Amino acid sequence: MKALLKWVLYLMSGLLVIVAALLIYVQNSWDRTFDVPLDKTFQVAMTPDAVENGRYLVYGPAHCAYCHTTKDKWAALDAGEYVPLSGGNYWDFEIGRITSSNLTPDMHTGIGGYTDAELKRALRANVSQKGRALFPLMDFHLMSDQDIHDVIAYLRSQPPVENEVPDNNFNLLGKAIMSFGMGPVDWGEGASRYRPDRDDIIEYGAYLANNVTACMACHTERDLKDGSYIGERFAGGFPMSSSEPGMVYVTPNITPDPETGIMFGWTEEAFVQRFLAGRVYPDSPMPWAAYARMTEDDLKAIYVYLISLEPIRKDTGPIYTAAK
Ligand code: HEC
Ligand code: HEC
Repeated sequence: MKALLKWVLYLMSGLLVIVAALLIYVQNSWDRTFDVPLDKTFQVAMTPDAVENGRYLVYGPAHCAYCHTTKDKWAALDAGEYVPLSGGNYWDFEIGRITSSNLTPDMHTGIGGYTDAELKRALRANVSQKGRALFPLMDFHLMSDQDIHDVIAYLRSQPPVENEVPDNNFNLLGKAIMSFGMGPVDWGEGASRYRPDRDDIIEYGAYLANNVTACMACHTERDLKDGSYIGERFAGGFPMSSSEPGMVYVTPNITPDPETGIMFGWTEEAFVQRFLAGRVYPDSPMPWAAYARMTEDDLKAIYVYLISLEPIRKDTGPIYTAAK
């Protein structure tokens, strides 16, 4: 009996040592950095055309503005104002609180001290200026070089706003995921770095829906712990929190399935009008008003692409419902 007790004690202390070692490892490595190459000589051209297209992308299709401003500014954004991108919006996930960065060129609290290459790397490879993996909320890895450069030109052209944004506040699970799981995105050098020709409407719509507007990022089921995709693309079913505790929005299926696709039967005109009309649910996480700033040609390209998709039968249930 005594011998058995001794062994149990040995085993338990062994386990304790392992757990303690893991905890120490996680505490020390959650903010590890990655060595993702930088083209140090890279600089964007600050032409008026570049700044104008960058502004269109930031407040329109790429909707950077809705994440990089606090929610109290959304009414102004919805009204078409160009609110400065001073950051501070936050999301409470299972892994802790993630806060968006100040993207105005302030030297101390914004991107004033970042190089163009570091900004481009943040969008392509999803690492911060310091090389830490960013929580995967941004899906711009395959945006074209030209569009990324224009976005950077616009960011540089804004007036600096001093706004110190708090660091992310990860809990233990978050730190463990940062230590073991999260890393830079391998976006595949050379893959889809060019914006398709607008005349090639399906290709161009695919580019917008996947690489710029992020329709795919929300209308696909994902694992909330690390952002990975677990459902069929564009088939919806991804629950997103609402400001009402206990209630969630569930993204609808936007593939052209006759029974379960929410857009089935919509004409191009109905689609464009739906987007120009803006939000129906007051706190829907979908950046409706950003898309309403898009040109009709860009909206039509997205429509043509979406109805060309393989229909996927997936009933995503009610759009606004109690969280499971
Ligand atoms: C869905 C919300 C969302 C959208 C859309 C979004 N961002 Fe972000 N962005 C964030 C969050 C949150 C962080 C901080 C993530 C972290 O620290 O892990 C961030 C971080 C960044 C960083 C890294 C800054 C640093 O400190 O290194 C850059 C650069 C950036 N965003 C640029 C953009 C640009 C440009 C766009 C539009 C093309 C954009 N973001 C759109 C949420 C968003
Ligand atoms: C940040 C997440 C997010 C993004 C990005 C997003 N959606 Fe949504 N979408 C939602 C949510 C949540 C709903 C349900 C609530 C609502 O209707 O506003 C929704 C609803 C819809 C609906 C149904 C509207 C209706 O009136 O029945 C359509 C169609 C749609 N989205 C298409 C798109 C397209 C196309 C894009 C890209 C241009 C897109 N969404 C981008 C989250 C998103």
